[in-house]
Amino acid sequence: MNLPMYKKTEVKPLAGIKSVIAVAAGKGGVGKSTVAVNLALALQHQGFSVGILDSDIYGPSVRKMLPEEKSPAQKGQFLIPALCHGIKVISMAYFRHTSEATVVRAPIANNIITQFIQGVDWGPLDYLIIDFPPGTGDIQLTLSQQANLTGAIIVTTPQEVAILDVRKAMHMFDQLKVPIVGIIENMSCYYHPKTDERICLFGSGGGRKLAEQSGVPFLGEVPIDPEICRCGDTGEVLIPKSGEIESSSAKAFLAIAKHATKEIESLKEQCRGALLNFELAWKEMS
Ligand SMILES: Nc1ncnc2c1ncn2[C@@H]1O[C@H](COP(=O)(O)OP(=O)(O)OP(=O)(O)O)[C@@H](O)[C@H]1O
Ligand SMILES: [Mg+2]
Repeated sequence: MNLPMYKKTEVKPLAGIKSVIAVAAGKGGVGKSTVAVNLALALQHQGFSVGILDSDIYGPSVRKMLPEEKSPAQKGQFLIPALCHGIKVISMAYFRHTSEATVVRAPIANNIITQFIQGVDWGPLDYLIIDFPPGTGDIQLTLSQQANLTGAIIVTTPQEVAILDVRKAMHMFDQLKVPIVGIIENMSCYYHPKTDERICLFGSGGGRKLAEQSGVPFLGEVPIDPEICRCGDTGEVLIPKSGEIESSSAKAFLAIAKHATKEIESLKEQCRGALLNFELAWKEMS
């Protein structure tokens, strides 16, 4: 499918979405897309309606990570997202062959992102998860300024070298006045399948320490699990829509999603409070 020509409209399709959440790191390869997909599945398991905007124009991976039920379509000047295991998805991967690179300069990539934000008819959603690309450049800036983000979930691995870049992403959100929902430490430790011994291949505690130092909530740890990797590679789901959950990694994502929803609601409450105070002050002045 070709990406249709985009004309700016007056309609704001993101308006029907209750919370728009960035999943970001600054650092490449720490598991942003894996966390975005499994967080979406965990939220769906908890009864929420969810969408994923894969904003990685140059290296989109969300399409590969989920089973596809319906391809995206065009309706008038809007794009209707694909449906993947009940989750609405839009990604550059639908507009390129698998091995075809997107070779475009930043202004074109930015236009595509704007089209994904303003030209997609998501319908009503509880959560739209935006899978951020690595770095703190043009696309991240456009997303932070245009997507009306409720907050950002930061993903890190335990290593210092990852945390170095993650701090920069947090600084970017701070500068752009996007609140941090919390930090997730991915690839925390590996549990030996026979002895259940906890083996911390990349060290441990880096994510929790970063959260404490930055004064933001620590949402939880995701272990290194070959099953997470296998599901990502085959498009199978780690967390079904409903029913009992056996896998400890799936349980970790469910617990993180629960914690995150609490923090998101509290951020929204703070925001409503600030708005009310502003309105009262404004009334007093006029
Ligand atoms: N907890 C985990 N256990 C095992 N494998 C994992 C885990 N988290 C991520 N992976 C694997 O690590 C690789 C990188 O993950 P992913 O693509 O989600 O990272 P990313 O931060 O989105 O990368 P990029 O910066 O390229 O967008 C993938 O092969 C994924 O399956
Ligand atoms: Mg990714």
